[in-house]
Amino acid sequence: MSAPSETTVPHASLLDRVPVVPVVIVDDLAHAVPIARALVAGGLPVIELTLRTPVALDAIRAIADEVPEILLGAGTITTPAQAEEAVAAGAQFLVSPGATPTLLSAMGATGVPFLPGTATVSEALAVLEAGYAEMKFFPAEVSGGAAYLKAISSPLPAARFCPTGGITPANASSYLALPNVGCVGGTWLTPADAVDTGDWGRVTALAAQAAGLR
Ligand code: 3PG
Repeated sequence: MSAPSETTVPHASLLDRVPVVPVVIVDDLAHAVPIARALVAGGLPVIELTLRTPVALDAIRAIADEVPEILLGAGTITTPAQAEEAVAAGAQFLVSPGATPTLLSAMGATGVPFLPGTATVSEALAVLEAGYAEMKFFPAEVSGGAAYLKAISSPLPAARFCPTGGITPANASSYLALPNVGCVGGTWLTPADAVDTGDWGRVTALAAQAAGLR
């Protein structure tokens, strides 16, 4: 096997693991491990845990320790320092809502796959130029949705997307049918009422439904 070159697309398999990446916002640290276990039980052994709450890094540590079978990502990465903290906590991939030159140049040093966020053709071109063929499309629904991604698939054949933001079970399949979409992401798998009441069976059921989408 040859060593990866600087132009190698980093970690091209991130989008092909599951049809739906659960985007999870954890407010209560005690919920982190049960959520991860419920997602795995439903057939979605991937989680993007967002760095949007004070307990997020501890939640990543807990899942890394107790649910090693899940592919554990950290989302809402907006600075290189956050990326380092997330990887130190146990994150195995990183996701950003955008893609600044600072982030794009710093992410290679983290040693883990990175999914930069884009919402325009110019942003996607900049990400491609940086060597990343796989990217998040965010916020998907308000940025043009599946029609937008379909329209750019011909001029940007190298770009592959994980749309997130406004994706639901009702519209996920319209994205997943596109040739430039590998998976979608969303928070609908962990509704607040299910999480707050410890209804992990419902999370598992939502994950199972999502795992069957395509
Ligand atoms: C993300 O970070 O991907 C979004 O917050 C997910 O948005 P959603 O709540 O509309 O799924």
